[in-house]
Amino acid sequence: FGPQPLLGRQVVITAGPTREPLDPVRYLSNHSSGKMGFALAEAAKALGAEVTLVSGPVSLATPAGVSRLDVESALQMRDAALGAAAGCDIFIGCAAVADYRPASSQPQKIKKSQDKLTVEMVKNPDIISEVAALAARPRLVVGFAAETQDVEHYARDKLQRKGLDLIAANAVGDGLAFGQDDNQLTLITPDRQLPLPRASKRDLARQLMAELATLLSEKA
Ligand code: PMT
Repeated sequence: FGPQPLLGRQVVITAGPTREPLDPVRYLSNHSSGKMGFALAEAAKALGAEVTLVSGPVSLATPAGVSRLDVESALQMRDAALGAAAGCDIFIGCAAVADYRPASSQPQKIKKSQDKLTVEMVKNPDIISEVAALAARPRLVVGFAAETQDVEHYARDKLQRKGLDLIAANAVGDGLAFGQDDNQLTLITPDRQLPLPRASKRDLARQLMAELATLLSEKA
């Protein structure tokens, strides 16, 4: 490999949280900061790729030379991701997409009148599964798995269920992964498992992108 094994390759990455509106002033979300996904965008760019970053609301600067599409809700992220992913070389789903959204967003601010409030939730579409099922499927579809227990077991299940080529499993909860500067990953493919010890997200992003460049060349 030269220094730029992804030269001319198109890489699409989702990053950050989604926000699911409850009413005009409130939303449900999670603690994703976007750091892991933005580090991946920077690392892919450094290897020569043309990078599109589909980002939920985060307060991070866009890495130099990366195209960024800003979205808020899971439904918006799905539209942007499917549009960008069709026919690309590598799709990486690093975003923490809300699994559910309020069944309806109230047109007016919800008033504090009742003692109890019940919000009905409906399932969001699974963005990465839809990307993996595209007619113009990216050559590699890569997911992340955020788990609080039995990390590898659940990650392997997601790898199969969502039709992915590789999943990067990380333990979350108790101050791990979400919002932190460092992380620990286990890369899982149908026939291999590669632990990447604790390191900065930038460092892990470089290791993961190098691994994906190798996988892509093996597919060619
Ligand atoms: O943003 P940081 O603060 O740096 O934190 C990084 C991270 C912990 C958010 C990141 O490393 C990570 O694990 N991202 C995936 C979080 C997640 O939603 O995992 P999951 O196990 O719920 O989802 C599995 C995969 O399906 C992921 O690739 C996810 O993007 C995708 N998914 C999930 C739900 C959904 N409706 N659509 C999806 O595409």
